Amino acid sequence: MAKRTVEVGPTFEGWQAAARALLQEGVAPAEVTWREVLRGVSEAPLLAAAAAAAPASARVPRQFLELARQAAAAADPTRWALLYEILWRLVHERRDLLADSGDPQVRRLNALATARAPASADTAEPPGAGAFIPPGATLEQLRAASARCQGCDLFRHATQTVFGRGPAEARIVLVGEQAGDQEDRKGAPFVGPAGEVLDRALVEVGLDRQRVYVTNVVKHFKFTERGGRRIHETPRAPEITACRPWLEAELEVIRPAVLGVLGATAARVIIGPEFRLLRQHGQLISTRWSPKTIATIHPSAVLRGEGDAEQARLYAMLCDDLRLMIAA
Ligand code: URA
Ligand code: SF4
Repeated sequence: MAKRTVEVGPTFEGWQAAARALLQEGVAPAEVTWREVLRGVSEAPLLAAAAAAAPASARVPRQFLELARQAAAAADPTRWALLYEILWRLVHERRDLLADSGDPQVRRLNALATARAPASADTAEPPGAGAFIPPGATLEQLRAASARCQGCDLFRHATQTVFGRGPAEARIVLVGEQAGDQEDRKGAPFVGPAGEVLDRALVEVGLDRQRVYVTNVVKHFKFTERGGRRIHETPRAPEITACRPWLEAELEVIRPAVLGVLGATAARVIIGPEFRLLRQHGQLISTRWSPKTIATIHPSAVLRGEGDAEQARLYAMLCDDLRLMIAA
């Protein structure tokens, strides 16, 4: 079988036009060699004609087109062949292929789609908080310095830095994920709905919040605006990495006897990526921050529980783990 070489301008649109035509002609992926050309999409006239005749959308899931568009921005030269193989299989094999996350080609597609595009201003790593942290500072000096942090882009849209709160002598430090809407407005951690759950639990287990130091992994609120409302967005690795030096500085100064980790994000940062919260919450773990590190669910997970019974179960889990922290 003679392979046919298809030249593609390295853009999603260039690939899409060629792929549509090939699909229309029934050309199987194995019969095609893809070659990137830097300028001008010089597909054979035959292809162009077939593309024009092809139906505008070849019954392909929208999700595929979105992933393909993202993957097209990656730097891997084999992406065009992969995209066509998956397109072919979506049409000829199974339309729900993308749901099969164990499929090697689907895995590669997902990896390509989330890979960083070649360096450009808006994908560059943020500089991080390190440069804003005065060496040897007290907790109060750290707090003052954190107000001026520009370690990542989150400071641009948020109202203020939400630094930790509580005494430097605290025996227990609790670490959450990130300031939310209320925290952003008030400048203090856990003062919104999640804070209400936390407060209720602290009262229930007999822990005075005034004696606990409460902070977050990421100090600025991250959100998107929709219909005038600010919707919380989970921080991503670059922001978590950028902000981490603040948490490290806080823990360095306080050196807590017990480190209470609230939720999966904080657990990943403090304990490690292999930690499984629902299986390992309540376990006593030694970390470089404290020989008595204990993780529990995030208070907002209680609020997300479906129905009263589930919420009560999660709330009890939170309280039990807080009791373990007190007793540790
Ligand atoms: N969720 C958090 O993780 N931290 C807060 O301060 C508020 C909500
Ligand atoms: Fe600095 Fe953290 Fe705010 Fe980013 S999120 S600007 S690193 S304090």
